[in-house]
Formats: sequence, C-alpha cells, structure tokens
Amino acid sequence: MKAMKNTKNNRQKNSKQNTYRAPKQGGRSGARMKGNSPKQNAPKSVQKPKKQKNVAPADTSHTQNIQWFPGHMTKTKRQIERDLKLVDAVAEILDARIPLSSRNPDIAALTAGKPRVILLNKCDMADKRMTRKWVDALSSDKVRAIPVDCRSGRGVEQFVPALSELLSDKIEGYRKKGMLNPTMRVMIVGIPNVGKSTFINRISKKNKAQSADRPGVTRGNQWFTVSKGFEMLDTPGVLWPKFDDQTVGERLAFTGAIKDNIMDIELLAIRLLDLLKELKTPEFIERYSLDDDDLALPTYELLAVIAKHRGMLISGGEPDTGRAAATVLDEFRAAKLGRITLESP
Ligand code: G4P
Repeated sequence: MKAMKNTKNNRQKNSKQNTYRAPKQGGRSGARMKGNSPKQNAPKSVQKPKKQKNVAPADTSHTQNIQWFPGHMTKTKRQIERDLKLVDAVAEILDARIPLSSRNPDIAALTAGKPRVILLNKCDMADKRMTRKWVDALSSDKVRAIPVDCRSGRGVEQFVPALSELLSDKIEGYRKKGMLNPTMRVMIVGIPNVGKSTFINRISKKNKAQSADRPGVTRGNQWFTVSKGFEMLDTPGVLWPKFDDQTVGERLAFTGAIKDNIMDIELLAIRLLDLLKELKTPEFIERYSLDDDDLALPTYELLAVIAKHRGMLISGGEPDTGRAAATVLDEFRAAKLGRITLESP
C-alpha cells in the first residue's frame, strides 16, 4: 500500500493565473485497496446487464476492499456545521457519472436542512438520458438539480436563476422588511476532484468577496461574489471515513476521485472492464478492436487482448497488462469509451 499523496488543507492557487484551486482534504489520509492478483480473481459470475443504455450494471465479481483514513474529517465537519449558520443555501457538486457514490453522506446529512442546488457536474462525460433522469430524481421542493459541464461552462448560467428561485421567498421577506438588496450566501460542498475549483473559477468572476464585515467566519474561509446579491463560501473537499459499500470506493476510483497510486490498477481496470464488456459501447468496442469472442473471455484475459491490440508488449512479446490497465482507466476518465453513467436513480 502506498500512502495517499499529501494535499494541503488550505487555499492554493493554480499554476495558471487567475484560477482558483479548492482546498483539498486529506493531509494525513491514507487508503488501501485489498485484493488478490487479477489472475487469482477470475470472475465467478457476471450479472446480467440492465436494459438501460450506457448505465453500468452492478457487478459483484472480484472482491476487494478499499479503506480510508481521513485525518481532517472531524475538523472539517465541525467547520461546515459552524459555517452553515452563515449561509442561506448549499450548492452541492456531484459527479454526473456517479451521483450516488460522489455524495459524501456525512456532509449531505449535515447540510440537509438548507435549500440546495445540486450541480451534476461533468455531464459532458455522462449518458445524457441518465442525467435527465437524475435531474428529475433529485429535484424537489427545496432542491434544484442542474446538469453542468464546468470545464466548458455549459449549464453554469442556470445556477444563479436556480438559486434565486429557490430563495425567492426569503429574498421577498427581506424586501418586505425594507432590505432592498439583500445578499444571499451559499456554501459549496463536494468531494475532492468533483470540479469545485473549476466551478468557482467559472462562476466567481474572479472576485474574492470582502470578509472583514463577517465576525465569526472561520479564519481562512473564502467568500466569492457570484453575482449581484449572491456570495459563495468554499469548503474543503472531503471523502468519508469508510465506505460501507465497497462499490462506492471502486466507482470513485474509476472516475479518478481516488488516486491511482494507492491501489492495484490492474485489478481496478478489470473491475471496470467487467462493466464495460456488458455495456458494449461502440467507442469501447472500436477503440480496442474487440469482437464477440474477445468479450466472452474472462476479464483478465480481455485485458491481455486489449494490451495486444494496442501493441503494448513487454520483452518476450508478453502483453503489458499494467500499461493496458492504465490506458483503459485513463480513456474511461477522458470519456473516450463513450458517455457512461455508472449509477441509475
Ligand atoms: P476539485 O476542486 O473539486 O478538487 O476539482 P477540480 O476543479 O480541480 O477538477 C478536477 C478535474 O476535473 C480537473 O481536471 C478539471 O478540469 C476536471 N473537470 C471539472 N469539471 C469538469 C467538467 O464539467 N467536465 C470535465 N470533462 N472535466 C471537468 P484535471 O485533469 O485534474 O485538471 P486540468 O488539467 O483540466 O486543469
């Protein structure tokens, strides 16, 4: 097991000018993924795929165990709890490919009482039809869900109108009391890598709001002006202490929310291939030149076939399955294997 890369729990600037980098959680965190070697883990069974297009079926072959040891979770939870009193709403960023697994249940519970805008980010990589289903499933009286692609900016313009609508009664209440231009404050929450910095860079117009007039605000907190009358408070991205369901850890790893260097990537790629060979997206089939016989192979053999088809060989002509595993994971994360949603509502 390698230790998880240390990340600072304070605000950092990107190397790019004028871009904001969210504070990341996990200074003393570690994780480990237990599992036998791929060849010892030949799939016993593969569940029948669901009929939905580009939604990965659940799969229970190849057991493995991912454990986390986040160092600052308690401190961050306390900080969020305290700062919640200062905000009118919560903006929760989820990964549109894994809306369930990318939701920190502790933070969701902590912020449950507040009106909420859910941003289904990275929707450019998720299955369109499934994203629409998720928007419907997540929306309610006190919740607005909107699909966004923060990298291109698509959908981000819906954020302020959604927030205004959500808080319209409150804004109206202030106006009735004679406060003509009340400032609404929103706390942004999300796990590491979900796209918080990218969103903030899109929405914040690069302005850090003045915090001098806010006694009680945690030192080091950052407020951003979103638009006239709206300010946003950032919080560190946090994962949770342990995954009750190991598939959650695995899906986070597929999407890159958990770094590769802490786990057996061949095993991880095989788990992903278990799903991909059921989904059979045209991009996956074409990219690796696969036919029905290849897809019928045990998954660890399929990985070797992919290595061969891509010319990834080690000395002696053996397939370089390690390199093929890294390639499959990279190409899934870059949506080169199709727009895929791994969870259905
Ligand atoms: P964080 O603050 O929540 O930790 O996440 P951050 O914004 O740093 O985003 C993590 C990665 O996800 C970045 O890629 C970012 O570009 C990418 N990303 C964010 N939003 C979207 C989106 O809507 N669609 C897609 N396709 N990608 C998105 P990176 O490769 O780590 O960095 P970079 O080289 O792109 O800067």
